[in-house]
Amino acid sequence: MTDAPKPSSSNQMWGGRFAAGPDAIMEAINASIGFDKRMAKQDIEGSRAHAAMLGATGILEPSDVEAIREGLLTVLSEIEGNEFHFSTALEDIHMNVEARLKELIGEPAGRLHTGRSRNDQVATDFKLWVRDQLDATEQGLLALIRALLDQAEAGADWVMPGFTHLQTAQPVTWGHHMMAYVEMFGRDLGRVRDARVRMNECPLGAAALAGTSFPVDRHMTAEALGFDRPSANSLDAVSDRDFALEFLSAASICAVHLSRFAEELVIWSSAQFRFVTLSDRFSTGSSIMPQKKNPDAAELIRAKIGRIFGANTALMMVMKGLPLAYSKDMQEDKEQVFDAADNLMLALAAMTGMVTDMTANRDSLATAAGSGFSTATDLADWLVRVLGLPFRDAHHITGTLVALAEQKGCDLPDLNLDEMQSAHAAITQEVFEVLGVENSVNSRISYGGTAPVRVREQVARWKDIVS
Ligand code: ARG
Repeated sequence: MTDAPKPSSSNQMWGGRFAAGPDAIMEAINASIGFDKRMAKQDIEGSRAHAAMLGATGILEPSDVEAIREGLLTVLSEIEGNEFHFSTALEDIHMNVEARLKELIGEPAGRLHTGRSRNDQVATDFKLWVRDQLDATEQGLLALIRALLDQAEAGADWVMPGFTHLQTAQPVTWGHHMMAYVEMFGRDLGRVRDARVRMNECPLGAAALAGTSFPVDRHMTAEALGFDRPSANSLDAVSDRDFALEFLSAASICAVHLSRFAEELVIWSSAQFRFVTLSDRFSTGSSIMPQKKNPDAAELIRAKIGRIFGANTALMMVMKGLPLAYSKDMQEDKEQVFDAADNLMLALAAMTGMVTDMTANRDSLATAAGSGFSTATDLADWLVRVLGLPFRDAHHITGTLVALAEQKGCDLPDLNLDEMQSAHAAITQEVFEVLGVENSVNSRISYGGTAPVRVREQVARWKDIVS
């Protein structure tokens, strides 16, 4: 009896046709174990489902399946207990796990890969990982939305300036401003949930690219791994990374929202604005200027879009020119997704912490709400509503009154009736009622408007959605 050839220097998984092992540089560029070990749990989960199916379909003997099952559990506990030795020579997580399984149970380990390839294996593992991450992102978004709802409810009727071009536009309510972000993060939530539904098809059993001649039961493995169904085309199954791209795209849009909000917090917490006070827990000091309290968390959240969108762009570029089916280029998918996922979760958690802790400075908000001629539109609307003027004329008359107030160094409500009438003789004392900011926000009762009554309706609607 002769032993099977076992070239000592070439790879034990695929070394059959190789006489020599890889160059050290080849090994370095080829290995993914440094990062794909993060998918160890998913890899073992996938292998367990595959082995169970091989047993159920009679492809493997029950004794082999049992040995594989036990062996995989041991490998998992070794990895979880940090006792596992990861080897770069073994390239990736799939081969590291299988090699250890072989050490533990011997021959049956070699039967695990029946009807499977690393191509469908890695696609399955990575999908399981991304799916978990979509779930974690959903939870992170829900926590942030709840924190925003608390702020919105507390300050549903607190007035503040609304801006366009960062110039005072019209008064709005604090609650309304918070709820604008609830809408944005709510859409992010929708994108994450949509992506999860779309990606939930199992690649396992697509094998290398063409399917397999073994009588595998792909529905069984799909169900065991929590997928809705097996993917319907084996070529697509092993070459698809849409799920990663969708995650990165959704993460990028979410990061845009986080960044915009972070920018507002940076502005609002400045001494010039004083709209909010951030908690000590989410601020830092300066080593030289004792008075400084810096919004570092907000600034870093604002910056995170760089790497998250970078990851999205990088993977788009990796995928765009690849012929079907698998190409090794696709190994470059994981680091991008891992990094984006880690940083998105961190940014969501930091933003949730900041929003929970921050104090809106009601007085500063109110003072700012009344300055900058913020109720000029209310005055123009009054001229239309009460005097029946065309809006364009009303706009012009209001403009002259703003110019007059500016010249006098006062706000619109500080002009007297004579001054008002100098712009239009029919103006009455009643006009002053619409110049107050409270009146202004209370009047904006159109659906989706800033009036406290509308804000409270939206808070109630969202509480139902996220409860
Ligand atoms: N480490 C590889 C990856 O992440 C696993 C798949 C390898 N497949 C292959 N045909 N070489 O993509």
